[in-house]
Amino acid sequence: TAKVRTHHLQAAKLAGQKFAMLTAYDQYTAQIFDEAGIEVLLVGDSASNNVLGNETSLPITLDEMIIFSRAVTAGSKRALVVADLPFGSYEQSPEQAIASSVRLMKEGLVHAVKMEGGAYYAPTVRALTQAGIPVMAHIGFTPQSEHMLGGYRVQGRGDAAAGMIDDAVALTDAGVFAVLMEMVPATTAVAVEAAIAVPTIGIGAGNSTTGQVLVWQDMAGLRTGKMAKFVKQYAHMRTVLSDAAKEYAQEVRTGVFPGPEHTF
Ligand code: KIV
Ligand code: NA
Repeated sequence: TAKVRTHHLQAAKLAGQKFAMLTAYDQYTAQIFDEAGIEVLLVGDSASNNVLGNETSLPITLDEMIIFSRAVTAGSKRALVVADLPFGSYEQSPEQAIASSVRLMKEGLVHAVKMEGGAYYAPTVRALTQAGIPVMAHIGFTPQSEHMLGGYRVQGRGDAAAGMIDDAVALTDAGVFAVLMEMVPATTAVAVEAAIAVPTIGIGAGNSTTGQVLVWQDMAGLRTGKMAKFVKQYAHMRTVLSDAAKEYAQEVRTGVFPGPEHTF
């Protein structure tokens, strides 16, 4: 099967079709999701929380993102692999954004980068795309700005919808191939999708976006604790792994494992 390219996502929007995106941070999940037909794999900076155990996405470094990126590209064959530009790796200048993105593509072998922020970053997007680096925008709730936004809150409500549309239009004019929206009212998401030619991708943005994305540990039930309203759990991996670990420990303690068939 042919590799998923940015123009395939564009074609999906024109054809009125949807596509699915999941985060992945390692070889096996990348391989499993790729073979399951997930079109886009995101090496999210959510690896900071979901893999490294940090409280927010802010501490993850570009070097760490490159390690996860390389594992995901190694594990996948068909999916478009997109990596987040982590906090601190692009804000200073278009030059800084290019240098960081080149590292993600050269060392992490990803196919595109994602960047949080609105119209302010249009010049940076223009510089990146001129350099041959496809860019996915991320607007609405942007976790890297958690402390500026005052926590996890829905963005683009009421009068703020117009500003969000302006951001999406400016970023599209600058050359992004998709606009991801996080925690946005469904009505605002409809307006953004209609205002731009490129596909939108939603997480907590209702059902009108061309694409949807979830963090895999949320989607597969690996994580416990309070889940955001937008999460649907399609499996209970935590129970599966916990039961396996308990059974293994039990068999070790009782001398059942290893059996003769596991013994040289
Ligand atoms: O890092 C991440 O997981 C994201 C989300 C939009 C899924 O950016
Ligand atoms: Na992210």
